Amino acid sequence: MTTRTIRQTIAAVATSDGAGVALRRSIGTAALKNLDPFLMLDHFGSEVPDDYLAGFPDHPHRGFVTFTYMLDGHMEHRDSLGNRGDLRAGGAQWMKAASGVIHSEMPRQVNGLMRGFQLWINLPAAEKMSDPVYQEFSPAAIPEVTADGIRVRVLAGEHSGVRGVVEDPITNVLYLDITLPAGAVFARPLPATHNAFVYVYEGDAELSGQALPAHRLAVLGDGDEVSLRAGAGGARFILVAGRPIGEPIVQYGPFVMNSREEIEQAFADYRDGRLARVRAAMHAV
Ligand code: CO
Repeated sequence: MTTRTIRQTIAAVATSDGAGVALRRSIGTAALKNLDPFLMLDHFGSEVPDDYLAGFPDHPHRGFVTFTYMLDGHMEHRDSLGNRGDLRAGGAQWMKAASGVIHSEMPRQVNGLMRGFQLWINLPAAEKMSDPVYQEFSPAAIPEVTADGIRVRVLAGEHSGVRGVVEDPITNVLYLDITLPAGAVFARPLPATHNAFVYVYEGDAELSGQALPAHRLAVLGDGDEVSLRAGAGGARFILVAGRPIGEPIVQYGPFVMNSREEIEQAFADYRDGRLARVRAAMHAV
């Protein structure tokens, strides 16, 4: 076994998106444009409702998957496929936008809290114009593995023989939310073929002798195993890995394709109302 070390750390950049939602972005910044197949990681969360209540009103996506995981509060969702969702704390949403989805995402607090992650996962050329798929999972639907005080929520992929709710045969994504008590060590195998990262969102940890404070993303180097030790206050982090696609990435805002021509086509389709095939449906619900 070769334990993965840290190849690069990225301090999440405070920014805002949508109609003014405060968030911390790590993947998808100047320091790390992408980590194939991952295009963006946003960690949103605030105790100040003005930081997020305007939310993300109607906006399009084409060419990739958005994966949203709520830690606190909830997120009201509505899309051009006719889905109306309410993503609860601990729940997750896997939206394969593919050929096109227009949706709104409106964060709401519970007990003054609203926190979560949105990860963008790229699709290969052969899948970019396929039909969109929407999947939403309640908090109770997410399997958990608990041992020695370590809690692992299995969102996608497999951990200790437990399969997550999301099956992703394309990029084989592993997505775990891990809570470690003070000083505890978490270790597991990771496919050597996959790009992987760790993002600590509470407490702090140490990975291959390097300190990993909160709100910092660690891109992992080569190897087939990961090992991480929590600091004195414990740690909560996500561990995510996926098989790289290895195709050109041309991104313009919410459209991620393989060429400039395809981006121009996406803009034209959006302008002419062709991006989401049943676009009219969302305004009827
Ligand atoms: Co969106």
